[in-house]
Amino acid sequence: MASTQPATPASSRKPRVMVLFGGRSGEHAISCATAAGVLRAIDRDRYDVVPVGITRDGRWVVAADEPERWEITAGQLPEVVASDGEVVVPLSVGDRRLRVLDALEPPRELGEVDVVFPLLHGPFGEDGTLQGLFELADLHYVGAGVLASAVGMDKHYMKLVLAGQGIPVAPYTVVQPGEWERDPEGVRARVEPLGLPLFVKPARAGSSLGISRVDDLDDLAAALTEAQRHDPKVLVESGVDGREIECAVLGSRDGERPARRSRARSR
Ligand SMILES: Nc1ncnc2c1ncn2[C@@H]1O[C@H](COP(=O)(O)OP(=O)(O)O)[C@@H](O)[C@H]1O
Ligand SMILES: [Mg+2]
Repeated sequence: MASTQPATPASSRKPRVMVLFGGRSGEHAISCATAAGVLRAIDRDRYDVVPVGITRDGRWVVAADEPERWEITAGQLPEVVASDGEVVVPLSVGDRRLRVLDALEPPRELGEVDVVFPLLHGPFGEDGTLQGLFELADLHYVGAGVLASAVGMDKHYMKLVLAGQGIPVAPYTVVQPGEWERDPEGVRARVEPLGLPLFVKPARAGSSLGISRVDDLDDLAAALTEAQRHDPKVLVESGVDGREIECAVLGSRDGERPARRSRARSR
């Protein structure tokens, strides 16, 4: 896919899907594993696939179209590195094209991308920043838009929105950046009524990174320190005895469920 491609009218070829993964968050390797699953599952008869990885320092590179390269195997976390492929510029406003940046002048074109399938986890990917970039570039993309992504990434604001709609959330308190260091007694006074056990979590992270269960308030400090490694804003939540249910939502911007054989144009 890194080869030069002449611009082909979109109607005369398969939709070209940019599978985008890796990224700058602590969940880099989890995102690579998600990409392994998608690269293996996507229907090659219906879609052309352009795998693009984002390195931990934010460079976009054309990545191997090899699911096994991106899997988490025993003791080995996958990572996108700059030497994986040519660096691409992710933004080309208006013409829906990506360009390969290499030693050549002018830069070679990677080809048209019809839709981006972002598989990033965590900040700088799942939090609306990338979605904003796609909006600016007029690229179609899969998944939630800017606002839903930003709110969904932040456990504090997600609770405010849910509660604002009358949806019950577990009791919690937010420990703002620097607050624990400045006023530990004040934080303790807010935390104690939440009871035990507590779940202490970074406000903006995922894949259970930095989350601790606290059964004794003497362990609160250590749990806060662990969560702060991922985000200076921390949520302390009452334990809930419940069942976790995950639910995918399939639909397009106008609220319609896309027809089974329609082009991949949802965003
Ligand atoms: N309040 C809670 N009560 C009980 N278990 C919890 C609570 N909060 C988190 N957990 C446990 O920790 C896991 C990860 O927490 P979650 O809030 O889903 O964070 P993440 O965004 O990392 O998935 C949950 O799947 C659940 O097993
Ligand atoms: Mg979860």
